[in-house]
Amino acid sequence: MVLLGLCYNTIMRTYIVGNWKMNFTIGESSIYLHKLLKRIKPARGLQIVIAPSSIALQPLSLQIDRKKLKLAAQNCNAKDYGAYTGETSVTQLRGLVNYIIVGHSERRHVFNETDNMIREKVAACIRNNITPILCIGETESQRSFGETKDVLRDQLISGLADVSREDLDKVIIAYEPVWAISGVKGAHPAVPDDIAESVKIIREHLSDTYGKEIAEKMPLLYGGSVNPSNAGAYLTIPGIDGLLIGGASLIADQFIDIIELAKKIKL
Ligand code: 13P
Repeated sequence: MVLLGLCYNTIMRTYIVGNWKMNFTIGESSIYLHKLLKRIKPARGLQIVIAPSSIALQPLSLQIDRKKLKLAAQNCNAKDYGAYTGETSVTQLRGLVNYIIVGHSERRHVFNETDNMIREKVAACIRNNITPILCIGETESQRSFGETKDVLRDQLISGLADVSREDLDKVIIAYEPVWAISGVKGAHPAVPDDIAESVKIIREHLSDTYGKEIAEKMPLLYGGSVNPSNAGAYLTIPGIDGLLIGGASLIADQFIDIIELAKKIKL
């Protein structure tokens, strides 16, 4: 097994991450990756990441060109090993992935993951030198009750509770309002002004807690119904450093169009 070097986010500033969720067989994943590798050119300052289903990680890790793309897992268990049937630990993911998506809203709301579990997963990623992409975001009902600020702050406080100050530069935050994620009942795309307001809440909280420098450096991605038509508007929101893309990342033309937009806007 090839052991990967560290890929902490001090090197990259813009991230385009495709979360494939529970889609594609191993064969389909491999064919799709082949297509992407043919069409993607590495660009300094832009990190492209794909998060396939866990069964595809090992074969894709042998096929991937890490100069062009990196792999992420969609989930992990916080324990390193043990009697946890059906689970995969961060220790087991070492050598396969550089990133792990932690606390995705589908994990929080469909699989009832608690803030405590997410905090432990973030800590496990740091312990194993893998960058966690910590997802935070309010539901439609929390938003309609005016709770967005409290929800985002609470999720940040608990998600980062076990990360030392020195390790904060090893974390990426992804803001995904649950009401904007395709597949969620009644979902609708967010307008940039809504996102800008949440970005302000997140950056201000980080600044008040850890200081301006850390707050400004921490990469913050946006996710929720991103497609080639709206990606440009989302990428130009001040304080947004990239995108976490679900549905559109499953279609090569769309994913590549978004990557090209990111190059034009951010590099
Ligand atoms: P969609 O882009 O399909 O709305 O999914 C967003 C998401 O959940 C990415 O993690």
